[in-house]
Amino acid sequence: MEGMLKPGALQGKTILVTGGGTGLGRSMGKYFLELGANLVISSRKKEVLDRTAEELMKETGGKVLAVPCDVRKYEEIEQVIAAAESTFGGLHAVLNNAAGNFISPTERLSHRAFDIVVDIVLKGTYYTTLAAGKHWIARKQPGVFLNIVTTYAWTGSGYVVPSACGKAGVLALTRSLAVEWAKYKIRSNAIAPGPFPTEGAWSRLLPGDLVKKFDPAQRIPLQRVGEHQELANLAAFLLSDYSGYINGEVITIDGGEWLRNGGEFSHLEMVPDQMWDMLEKMRGK
Ligand code: HXC
Ligand code: NAP
Repeated sequence: MEGMLKPGALQGKTILVTGGGTGLGRSMGKYFLELGANLVISSRKKEVLDRTAEELMKETGGKVLAVPCDVRKYEEIEQVIAAAESTFGGLHAVLNNAAGNFISPTERLSHRAFDIVVDIVLKGTYYTTLAAGKHWIARKQPGVFLNIVTTYAWTGSGYVVPSACGKAGVLALTRSLAVEWAKYKIRSNAIAPGPFPTEGAWSRLLPGDLVKKFDPAQRIPLQRVGEHQELANLAAFLLSDYSGYINGEVITIDGGEWLRNGGEFSHLEMVPDQMWDMLEKMRGK
């Protein structure tokens, strides 16, 4: 659970993390600072951002700029990029991490509930990507996008339909621009995390007694949830120059969760050794 890259691996880079005041965004941002990056964090809640910026600067000795911004408002994203440029002299990478989500049977949702999630997840990621892409292309400057999706971006999932639709769109955006903007030396990749405990996700996806009833670790072949540092290591690598030839990829980090739950015979792990012995005998061995 230690940092993986060598010290200074992100030195001289300024990285914008949307939704960087809490949860996984905060953890990844902290590691970028430890590797020498300048960090820009943005989200809607100014007080949360300011507190996180202060804590991260104290913990790492790095530089953090906190700029409130709603990713659904294009002009606000442009202001974040302008602030990054005037404070740090430029922007080199964007981690599209901001998201909204909740669980519900789809027939109980209002049409606005779909809008609220898709506007943050898909439109917010598109707006941020468009603003940063235009900025880099106009300056003939290379750049890197890293988009946080999840494994149900390709499997789909009941009870989180707006999020599944939004994340599927983000994955399509990642792959599309990886090709279209490669000529500008702009790379685009994605990470699909399985369960990593955060207040934001747990309170909305496992509210009340659900957390006791559905222990996420039980669904995972490695029998545990993810550690934030494991995700931070992967994110730092994908934003660094060490991954310079990786473009258009989505990397799953879920302990084998989605494959296990899609595998036809995965449930046979419940068959005890004695029963396998019996089955062997029945085969005449
Ligand atoms: C059904 C709901 C709902 C719920 C809101 N709505 N919560 N419907 N079930 N639990 C509906 C409302 O009824 C309303 O529609 C519309 O959505 C807007 O609701 P608001 O409360 O006004 O929205 P807002 O205050 O803007 O809050 C947005 C939010 C909130 C998305 C609902 O949860 C939020 O701020 N989330 C940000 C952080 C977050 O979600 N983090 C978790 C990411 S975890 P009507 O028609 O009634 O007006 C994640 C993990 C993925 O993505 C994979 C895990 C393995
Ligand atoms: P989180 O702490 O709730 O993070 C979501 C962040 O998005 C918050 O900081 C929130 O801040 C910000 N945000 C929401 N709406 C926004 C808007 N309109 N404009 C700007 N920022 C906005 O939850 P998390 O678990 O760390 O999730 C981070 C990312 O990981 C998300 O993309 C999520 O889908 C993904 N993910 C998480 C898990 C997991 O198990 N935790 C698994 C798979 C994928 P404000 O409220 O201040 O705006």
